[in-house]
Amino acid sequence: MATIALVRAAGSLAARPLYEAIPRRHTNRYGYVRERPIPTDAIDAVKAAAEDPQLRLFLYDEGSARRRFDDAAVRATEEIVADKQMIEDSHAWFRDGRGELARERSGLALDTAGLAPWLLAVAKMLPALPAEQSHGQWLTATRETHLPTAPLVGFIAVRDRYDRPQALVTGRTWQRMHLVATTLGIAMHPINQPVEMIDRDRQLGREPKSEARLAAVTEMPDWKPTFAFRAGYPTREAPRSARRALAEVAAKV
Ligand SMILES: Cc1cc2nc3c(=O)[nH]c(=O)nc-3n(C[C@H](O)[C@H](O)[C@H](O)COP(=O)(O)O)c2cc1C
Repeated sequence: MATIALVRAAGSLAARPLYEAIPRRHTNRYGYVRERPIPTDAIDAVKAAAEDPQLRLFLYDEGSARRRFDDAAVRATEEIVADKQMIEDSHAWFRDGRGELARERSGLALDTAGLAPWLLAVAKMLPALPAEQSHGQWLTATRETHLPTAPLVGFIAVRDRYDRPQALVTGRTWQRMHLVATTLGIAMHPINQPVEMIDRDRQLGREPKSEARLAAVTEMPDWKPTFAFRAGYPTREAPRSARRALAEVAAKV
């Protein structure tokens, strides 16, 4: 356990571009514009945010490695959808209705699921879908929208994905990359199903199929992908996700 004292920084934080992007950074689960590649200088800015000797960033736009990435993500999503325990456990993060969302201020909700406006309006009027159905829609979206519309996909990889400091560096790096992308009008979305399946295979002592599929993408088996994502110019603005107020998560001393 630790006690951390915060002090006010000199100068204006609001003038710093990444600070200013914090309230605007949101996961965007809509389709992106595949025909509009991310310019090299924007990719370089995202790469610069990921410069850390403990990790390696892998990016793919077109070609055979990209096809293998998409295939690994779709296959992992199929495996999750076929795994009753996994979908029940992830369904627990789905906030059903305004009351639950207001109470939890976290997790997944219809508004941020990337549904077309007409479907969102219909979905809000109907009772919540059971886990099997909502996950079936997620598989369809992954296969037909999330991957095919994304001009760029990638992984953050580390030497040991179960080492806590390396996991923290990954999380910090992802947030910084996503903030940089936000300042450039680029949307991002974690697609971490292949990494979740690596954990699941390991947990059940099964053949490490998802690990092998990702190693075939990177061709560098010593670097362990731990966070997979897609990026691109969005077709719609990402809605705001639920967040907790600072006062709810930080105690004043
Ligand atoms: C480690 C990690 C893995 C995640 N994996 C996924 C994922 O596979 N699919 C997804 O839609 N969102 C994923 N997310 C995004 C979170 O669901 C999202 O950040 C959260 O709902 C808060 O929304 P915001 O990014 O708009 O603030 C992941 C986030 C983290 C930190």
